[in-house]
Amino acid sequence: MLSEKMQEALNTQINKELYSSYLYLSMAAWCESVNLGGFANWMIIQAREEVSHTEKLFGFLNERGGRVLLQPIEGPPTEWGSVLEVFGQVLEHERLVTGLIHGLVKLARSEDDYATEAFLQWFVSEQVEEEATASGVVEKLKLAGEQGSGLFMLDREMGTRVFTPPAGE
Ligand code: FEO
Repeated sequence: MLSEKMQEALNTQINKELYSSYLYLSMAAWCESVNLGGFANWMIIQAREEVSHTEKLFGFLNERGGRVLLQPIEGPPTEWGSVLEVFGQVLEHERLVTGLIHGLVKLARSEDDYATEAFLQWFVSEQVEEEATASGVVEKLKLAGEQGSGLFMLDREMGTRVFTPPAGE
């Protein structure tokens, strides 16, 4: 059985994952508005991944006899100055999420909640990947520049991303 405090913290994380999905969908909409369909595709898939993170937390809360309590989702930003700025914000946001996951692990440890701590290990590893991916795109964007054939090629590459459900689903 989960403690009240752990239940509340996992529900807050559900809200953060849904916000992440909302943020990336908003970024997809912006990319579409500046004719970068490949980047928009990448963002839509990223948004779906965030929903799958939500589903993992949702399933775990129920499995442990907790109660999922959804909260209002904050409105995401809608405008960015460049695609480099967009991905800079993705990286910043993923670093923030990593901090939140680490906070959950600390809480689980402080409560001797070994099951939650073990469950969260998947998220710890996932965040390493999330940050590395976002950082890789930022670096590529810096090399490609803000317009011209480099950006066009990168947009094409981003357009090839497909959704892969997380392992175990
Ligand atoms: Fe759910 Fe992008 O971390």
